[in-house]
Amino acid sequence: MSNLSGKHILLIVSGGIAAYKTLDLIRRLRERNVIVTAVLTKAAKQFVTPLSVASLSGRQVYDDLFSLTDETEMGHIQLSRASDLVLAAPATADLMAKAANGLADDLASTLLLATDKAPIFVPAMNVRMWLHAATQRNVAALKSAGCSVFGPAEGEMACGEFGPGRMLEPLEIVAALEKLIAVRSTGSPKAPASRPLAGRRAIVTAGPTREPIDPVRYISNKSSGKQGYAIAAALATAGAETILVSGPVDLATPAGVRVNSVESAVEMLDAVKAALPADIFVSAAAVADWRVKNAGTQKTKKGSDGPPMLELVENPDILATVAQMTTGRPNLVVGFAAETENLVPNAQAKLARKKCDLIVANDVGAEQEIFGGDRNRVVIVDAAGAEPWPQASKAEIATRLAALLAKQLDDRT
Ligand code: CTP
Repeated sequence: MSNLSGKHILLIVSGGIAAYKTLDLIRRLRERNVIVTAVLTKAAKQFVTPLSVASLSGRQVYDDLFSLTDETEMGHIQLSRASDLVLAAPATADLMAKAANGLADDLASTLLLATDKAPIFVPAMNVRMWLHAATQRNVAALKSAGCSVFGPAEGEMACGEFGPGRMLEPLEIVAALEKLIAVRSTGSPKAPASRPLAGRRAIVTAGPTREPIDPVRYISNKSSGKQGYAIAAALATAGAETILVSGPVDLATPAGVRVNSVESAVEMLDAVKAALPADIFVSAAAVADWRVKNAGTQKTKKGSDGPPMLELVENPDILATVAQMTTGRPNLVVGFAAETENLVPNAQAKLARKKCDLIVANDVGAEQEIFGGDRNRVVIVDAAGAEPWPQASKAEIATRLAALLAKQLDDRT
């Protein structure tokens, strides 16, 4: 369970294009049982509406310093004191400048001045604004006043420039908050209870593979990679040094995870072998079962011969290869089974055939929305039997799986 569970976060949203990511951040926090009270600056309302923020947070959204009703129901001092954490995301250069200099001309800046918590800023701005001496001075002043600053990340900006200034992705912010809470509550990020996998090494595969037909065409599948990425994030949060061998997906790198991006199944197997040894191997990737035998080196042209005949050959089975290593086999090898019928018997057969230690079995039948969705329903199948887990978010399943693997690893070693 996340150490954020039950916490109350006062979320200050200032006006930047990254504010759209804050909507997802609210969802991620609520999945972890966090109470989110949001405050929008005037500029933030140009990017997200109070209605969308209120719908996602399930609570009233505040934006006006001089609203009498709010002052009667909850004064701004109380608003800033009632929370466990004060988080500004996105934090614009303007918001941080105000906070660093004690300005208080709207509700957001007043709350930052009135709070007795050390606020956390998640900056988002153009690279030149971030690198400007004034912003850097303000950031240094905030840090020396005990505030935390998460990010920014480096990358392509909405404005087309490249460099530091991008707001961290929602799951990266969640991971950074969890780490901060662990440090604040224990004085050390390595509290044994919250980091049961400290000192362990884990490799996770995730996403689809792409099997080339020619330089511009490929065979692939609908895997989003979300469950595998969530598992890598959970293993890293639990303290494991985590390497994620990922097929092509559109997901942010989870905090504390090293990503090795690959395309084909053969590349994925090579990357897994290169990342070994490990204590845990989780094979969450939807590896294509076949590849084209003689993929073209030039783009295949339409011709008079009709459509090309593709000869397929079987791909290496990465899970079975790792599970059946005679030397250096990871202590725990975990596979996935996507089934549309006979879930448990099929998963048990797969467990025996591939010789892995545990299978996370998914029902991907017609009425399920597993592929690409944020929720999942799984049955854990191992030598001890089959345990159905209740439907939950992919993040919650990942956290529970990381705890189970930590326990099984402790029992074995
Ligand atoms: N897997 C793998 N390498 C492959 C194929 C699958 O590592 N070439 C792994 C997947 O990552 C997953 C498990 O094996 O952990 C799934 O096994 P698979 O036999 O592919 O199961 P299904 O996709 O359910 O296929 P089938 O219905 O053919 O059994």
